[in-house]
Amino acid sequence: MEVHETIASIRQSLLEQHQAGRSVGFVPTMGYLHDGHLSLMARSRAECDVTVVSIFVNPLQFAPNEDLSTYPRDLDRDLASCRTIGVDAVFAPDVNEMYPEQMLTSVSVAELGSTMEGAARPAHFTGVATVVTKLFNIVGPCRAYFGEKDYQQLAIVRKMARDLDQPVTVVGCPIVREPDGLAMSSRNVYLDEDERAAAPVLHRALQAGAATILAGERSAPAVRHLMAGIVEAEPLAQLDYAEVVDAATLRPVDPLAGPVRLLVAARFGRTRLLDNLGVEVPARG
Ligand code: PAJ
Repeated sequence: MEVHETIASIRQSLLEQHQAGRSVGFVPTMGYLHDGHLSLMARSRAECDVTVVSIFVNPLQFAPNEDLSTYPRDLDRDLASCRTIGVDAVFAPDVNEMYPEQMLTSVSVAELGSTMEGAARPAHFTGVATVVTKLFNIVGPCRAYFGEKDYQQLAIVRKMARDLDQPVTVVGCPIVREPDGLAMSSRNVYLDEDERAAAPVLHRALQAGAATILAGERSAPAVRHLMAGIVEAEPLAQLDYAEVVDAATLRPVDPLAGPVRLLVAARFGRTRLLDNLGVEVPARG
C-alpha cells in the first residue's frame, strides 16, 4: 500500500493509474477509522480498479469552539485498517501541505448548507465543500464514496459535483451501526459509559418516526414531535433538532409524500451525535 504525504506524489501515482486506464475509487475521511469507513473502502474495492483513501482532519470545517484539537487520531492504526481492506493508496497530508497559505477561495452550497447541521455549525459545510473540492482536484476523475451517516453532507457534495461539473461520481453508502443501533462515529469514543448507554435513543426515535409514517401518519410536525419527545425523554440527551424532509432536496415536505428522510441531532454531554433514516411514504390507495 502506498502512503503519500504530498499532493505532488499522490497526483503522480494517480496519473499513472489513469494513463493505464484503471478506474479510481476515492474515500475521503478524517481518520480514526471504524467499520463505517471500512464499508466505503470495501465498496470502492468491489467497484473500482484502484482505491484511494484520504486521511485529513480538516481545520476549515471546525469552528473555533469545536473539537479540532481533541479530534481522535491514530494514523498507524488507520494505515493497518486500510491494509486489511486492500486499499491501494492513502493520502495523509499535514495541514501545511493542504493549506500552505491563507485560503481566499471557498466553495459553499447555498440553501442545502444552511439548515440543520448548517444552522448549528454555520461555517461547517463551506469548510467541507472546500476541502472536498481540493481533494477531488488532487485525485482527479473518480467514483467518490460517502456515507449516508452524514446525510446532509452527502446531499451537498452531490449537488456541488453536479453544479461545478466535477469529474466525480458521488456514491452514497448505507449507515453502519453498532449492535444496539448506535450509528458508528469517530466521536463515539468521547462518550462516557452512561452516555454511550443512552445514545441509541437517536436510532429508536428515528425508528418510531418511520413506524408512525408506515402506519399512516402524514403530518410532518406530528412526526417531528414524536421523535423529539423520545429523545427529550432521555435525561442525558439534549435535543438539537428532529426533522423530516424531502430525501432529495432536504426541503420541508408536508403532508409527507415520496421518499423522505428523518434526521436527528443531540448532545450527550460534550459530544454531538447525528443519525438519520430513510422512509418511502406509502402512496394512499
Ligand atoms: P469522517 O467523519 O471521517 O467520515 C468519512 C466518511 O465516512 C463520510 O462519508 C461519512 O459519512 C462516512 N461514515 C462515517 N460514519 C459512518 C457510518 N457509521 N456508516 C457509514 N458511513 C459512515 O465526513 C468526513 O469525515 C469529512 O467531513 C470529510 C468528507 C472527509 C471532509 O473533511
